[in-house]
Amino acid sequence: MSHTETKPAPAGRWSVASAPGRLPLLGHLVPMRRRPLEFLTSLQYEADLVRLEMKGQPLYMACHPELIDQMLKEPRTFDRGGPFYEKTQLLMGNSLGNCPYSDHRRQRRLVQPSFRRERIASYPEVMREEVEAETARWRPGGTIDANARLHAVTARIGARVLLSTDIGTDHVEQIVRCLPVVLKGIYRRMVAPIDLLHKLPGPERRAFESALEELRALIDTVIRDYRAAGVDHGDLLSGLLTARYDDGDRLSDQEIHDQVMNFLTAATETTATALAWALQLLGREPEHERRLQEEADAWAAREGPKGHGRDDLPYTGRVITEVLRMYPPGWFVTRVVSKDTELGGQPLAAGTVVFYSSYALHRNRSLFPDPERFDPDRWAPERSGEVPRGAMIPFGSGSRKCIGDDYAMAETSVALATIASRWRLRPISTTDVHPTPRALVGMGPLPMLTEPRT
Ligand code: HEM
Repeated sequence: MSHTETKPAPAGRWSVASAPGRLPLLGHLVPMRRRPLEFLTSLQYEADLVRLEMKGQPLYMACHPELIDQMLKEPRTFDRGGPFYEKTQLLMGNSLGNCPYSDHRRQRRLVQPSFRRERIASYPEVMREEVEAETARWRPGGTIDANARLHAVTARIGARVLLSTDIGTDHVEQIVRCLPVVLKGIYRRMVAPIDLLHKLPGPERRAFESALEELRALIDTVIRDYRAAGVDHGDLLSGLLTARYDDGDRLSDQEIHDQVMNFLTAATETTATALAWALQLLGREPEHERRLQEEADAWAAREGPKGHGRDDLPYTGRVITEVLRMYPPGWFVTRVVSKDTELGGQPLAAGTVVFYSSYALHRNRSLFPDPERFDPDRWAPERSGEVPRGAMIPFGSGSRKCIGDDYAMAETSVALATIASRWRLRPISTTDVHPTPRALVGMGPLPMLTEPRT
């Protein structure tokens, strides 16, 4: 894909500005808590690099794609860490997603083969099966909370694909039940103004701790059973059990546990949220919905009831790509400066937090004309070269780019085509659904009417 080049700023000519609206003591805490998406999007137009203040500390938002690229492609200097990631260690230890630079290459090399296309080739089959099973429960003229249903489906798929293809229904339902409680609890701990709040006894803490314990015990049981059986099931967990570091060492059970937890949490909410936004947007755009249905019908006829090929779903892919532009689940990506450096000419001391927001970037008018418009044809081959390099990064970039991008595109394409070939989902509420920025850009309940297509 050829790209339009963004106007490079001549060396030393990057613009740096302070974000407006800073209050004494509070810094920019108020707009960051009240309306972070709008606030960060407005900062895209302030400068190439914008300085903010939170809890008395300066932090910098990279707005220009070239500065974001620099931040992502120099992982030794712009390293993983900082207050958000410390909380995720509680859940997933020192695993791929939150380990520092010093450990990352070793872990990525070990885990990458498990995500190769040939190993995940059979996954779309599980994905289709689970979406079929979910939609079989829908009733003509019924109402569903599409957001909740999609979260349950992607958790089921995650349990079978990332943990064990043989996992029993009880275990799957345990994961479906515990995972959202755990994710919510981790998010609350990430954004809590004072750590102490979560150490106090109360129902939220009890629910979080018991869901986490249940999930941990279940993952340990599955790992133990797999090790005891000693059979390569051809799935991701088997891949982790047989993987070896360069020095010949294998992963310990704890390391496998942490990686599985990392994958499960990274894989389920992200894809469910993207699918929910796709259904919401399509429900309001009859022309795009019609084109998607046409493609889904042809696909279903060709594939038969169990087929799961996805190479011939180009329009579906464009719809998903456009959804990931407008509502990128990973909307806020941070790094910590590991040694004194500079970005865009601005000196940064070791320990400074730098971040970018893909949500804000993807809605910058100078990068995407008419950015509020849902327009999947932006991604048609003849037009996709119009997108400036580095402007569209829903999966990040550089050595820490999402390892599950292929999995995510497979799952969302197969799910959307499976649903669209059978069902038409009508939004019930006439009011707009607003994005809720938490750990991901999600949404609240999404009530929809289920109409069979034939
Ligand atoms: C629409 C779906 C998804 C989106 C938008 C998404 C987004 C992202 C982003 C932006 C990053 C980079 C974060 C950074 O640079 O700090 C990332 C990393 C990661 N993602 Fe995803 N992701 C998705 C689905 C998945 C799935 C399905 C899996 C697993 C099966 C997964 C596993 C991971 C892991 C393990 C990392 C850390 C990679 C590393 O540090 O080497 N993600 N994801």
